[in-house]
Amino acid sequence: MQKTQLSESVAVSRIIYGLWRLTDDKDRSPSHILAKIEACLNQGITSFDQADIYGGYSSETLFGSALKTAPALRDQMEIITKCNIVTPTGVYADRRLKYYDTSQAHIQQSVDRSLREMGLEQIDLLLLHRPDPLMDAAETGAALDSLIQSGKVKALGVSNFRPFDLALLQANMTNKLVCNQIEINLQDNSALTNGDLAYLQRKNIVPMAWSPLAGGTLFNNNNPVLAERLRDMSLIYGVEPASLAVAWLLKHPSNILPVMGSNRVDRIKCFSEALSVELDRQSWYELYEAANGHEVP
Ligand SMILES: NC(=O)c1ccc[n+]([C@@H]2O[C@H](COP(=O)([O-])OP(=O)(O)OC[C@H]3O[C@@H](n4cnc5c(N)ncnc54)[C@H](OP(=O)(O)O)[C@@H]3O)[C@@H](O)[C@H]2O)c1
Repeated sequence: MQKTQLSESVAVSRIIYGLWRLTDDKDRSPSHILAKIEACLNQGITSFDQADIYGGYSSETLFGSALKTAPALRDQMEIITKCNIVTPTGVYADRRLKYYDTSQAHIQQSVDRSLREMGLEQIDLLLLHRPDPLMDAAETGAALDSLIQSGKVKALGVSNFRPFDLALLQANMTNKLVCNQIEINLQDNSALTNGDLAYLQRKNIVPMAWSPLAGGTLFNNNNPVLAERLRDMSLIYGVEPASLAVAWLLKHPSNILPVMGSNRVDRIKCFSEALSVELDRQSWYELYEAANGHEVP
């Protein structure tokens, strides 16, 4: 599978596997987690997206337990994780409410914990999870830079940042922010027109799309016109509707990297099918029109 170079030392796979829903799976055994990891690696999906907060701060621990049973796999993988959301559960059970913390102390502590829980020497890519209204850009930028300097993290990025948040943080850093992970899918496609993707392209920053299937709701009757269009086109193309929805993202010139989230090994095994689909311009617009509920102006 094609890789996208994020920095001198980090390249990620064109499709990424996300572990947000890991704890929704009834089977959380190391062997089942390993089966999902292997289903990814067998197709060249080598990049795995975590966050400290996933599973109420338990997903990294579970993932780490699985990796410890097959340590040779680590060298074939790129591990992404995120920090700065604090919510009163797990390690932060003593907090009064959910909030964001982009202080130097919190970032350092969170990264140390992620390394420990996943049993890693280095995180390939660290993202700030959400823009924090209380972010002191100079302090946060220095904290992120120091993680590269100490070798704990190989590359840095953000998530859910608008262009102005990103520009502010970048102006306070030495290292480049190499990616922005934002919500993009057929249903939530505002990034295509609100300047987010244009800005990332202009700055040569890679977009990652979280919930590329809108959490599976593309296929239910949230939007029956879109669900039907995906079904009809899937018969023409001879692929799963999910592959068409991902191919729709892959066609965008900004090189969107979809972060997929199924817990089903049979579905994971089909993720790379999307790469075989070449949507022509009219087919791409057919899906866009169905998603928006009207033709383009
Ligand atoms: N940065 C952020 O703020 C942020 C926010 C949200 C997510 N993320 C990242 O994005 C990743 C993906 O998010 P997501 O899980 O919402 O992605 P998704 O791929 O849009 O949705 C996956 C969900 O759709 C269901 N689904 C239904 N039909 C499916 C089909 N045909 N193929 C595949 N899945 C189908 C899956 O159920 P089954 O498990 O039963 O297949 C699963 O519950 C997360 O794991 C996380 O890494 C990041």
